[in-house]
Amino acid sequence: MSKSNYTVREATEADASAINDIVNYEIGTSVNNFNYSSRSEEDGLAWFRSTINGGYPILVAVAPETNAIAGYASLGSFRQKDGYRFTAEYSVYIHQDHRRRGLGRLLLRDLLIKAKELNFHAIIGSISEGNEASLKLCAEFGFRVVGTMRENGYKFDRWIDNTFVELIL
Ligand SMILES: CC(C)(COP(=O)(O)OP(=O)(O)OC[C@H]1O[C@@H](n2cnc3c(N)ncnc32)[C@H](O)[C@@H]1OP(=O)(O)O)[C@@H](O)C(=O)NCCC(=O)NCCS
Repeated sequence: MSKSNYTVREATEADASAINDIVNYEIGTSVNNFNYSSRSEEDGLAWFRSTINGGYPILVAVAPETNAIAGYASLGSFRQKDGYRFTAEYSVYIHQDHRRRGLGRLLLRDLLIKAKELNFHAIIGSISEGNEASLKLCAEFGFRVVGTMRENGYKFDRWIDNTFVELIL
């Protein structure tokens, strides 16, 4: 299925549950998300609302015919202090059945366009050790590797390094 069959649009609250399922798959199976336990539907909705109310975008990719949510991309707070207000941290998650079809690229591209419209200046990514897909994807858009923090994560009984990337818009 070509990527051109997918559509990208702004997410609505009705998408929060599907987004949550995508995140929970990653929590359960990988170190790409440092949470240990699944996020409840209620907490997923609270995340959705606080993201939107905080002035950050959430985009979804919708699969053709089924209209299933195939992935999402969002911005969120990097740090709370006032001086960081033009900086945001991005997330892109693609449902495991829809990977490697160009959707991560499609969503990240549209997210960065949106970020610029919203007047963000610096976009940060935090990439766990071993996530080559994510490193390659962000490099395509000009993200620069800032550095790798050693063993700042712990999951599945092991320490995990974390690489920070940044793009100035
Ligand atoms: C990282 C992720 C978003 C990529 O999404 P995707 O839709 O599968 O990626 P795309 O099809 O758009 O691929 C874009 C490029 O990324 C790289 N890439 C994607 N998947 C890859 C993989 N499994 N291995 C190596 N490179 C990969 C390639 O350079 C690819 O370009 P190519 O297909 O022309 O070679 C997806 O793997 C994912 O959701 N992973 C789990 C969640 C996550 O880690 N999110 C990022 C943390 S913020």
